[in-house]
Amino acid sequence: MPIKACIFDLDGVIVDTAKYHFLAWKRLADMLKINFTENDNERLKGVSRMASLNIILEIGNVTLDESLKEKYATLKNTWYVDYISRMTPAEILPGSLEFITELKNAGIKVALGSASKNTPLIIKQVGMDNLFDAVADGNVVRNAKPDPEVFIIAAKMLGVLPENCVVFEDAAAGVEAALNAGMLCIGIGSKQILKKANIIVSGLDKMNLKRLMKIDKA
Ligand code: BG6
Ligand code: MG
Repeated sequence: MPIKACIFDLDGVIVDTAKYHFLAWKRLADMLKINFTENDNERLKGVSRMASLNIILEIGNVTLDESLKEKYATLKNTWYVDYISRMTPAEILPGSLEFITELKNAGIKVALGSASKNTPLIIKQVGMDNLFDAVADGNVVRNAKPDPEVFIIAAKMLGVLPENCVVFEDAAAGVEAALNAGMLCIGIGSKQILKKANIIVSGLDKMNLKRLMKIDKA
């Protein structure tokens, strides 16, 4: 199975936006008098905006009707967009740009596969808007991770078969989505959370073409 494409999750793999999601969700939780901690924030990684709100409401044992939920999700997003509008290229996680450039130079295609509807704004802010061969994000996907849809769409956009793709993911739901798509998955982060991934590294600064090719042969 030669590797022809690498598909990257965005939040937590290329940039650390989890801190901004947390600040915005925390503001909403405080407003609703729900005790929401950084520990709880782990559960929101890789999960869609509405599913995140549902988790927070469940933590606070709060029930809201759909129209109010829409209103609060939009309000949280307004605050979140405020943070990410101020992001700069300095916020690209170590090793990301170097690894992606190495892949491109070797003729391996690169794509984004993210649940976020804010993907276009984030990649523009960090100066990566012309880097990827394809972008599959929350604006084109209907079924959230662990459904494989986002990665299947990314592979189709690239014209590469799933078995020739490798996914880089920092969330348990994302690892499952990649495996459900029939792709190899490299977990970025903790062994406890990403145990189903084929291999786990602490960050893209630990990746290079040579290491990727070894996985290909394994
Ligand atoms: C994922 C994040 O990438 O995108 C989640 O890991 C987030 O935490 C999801 O909820 C949706 O993001 P957005 O920007 O569309 O609200
Ligand atoms: Mg992520």
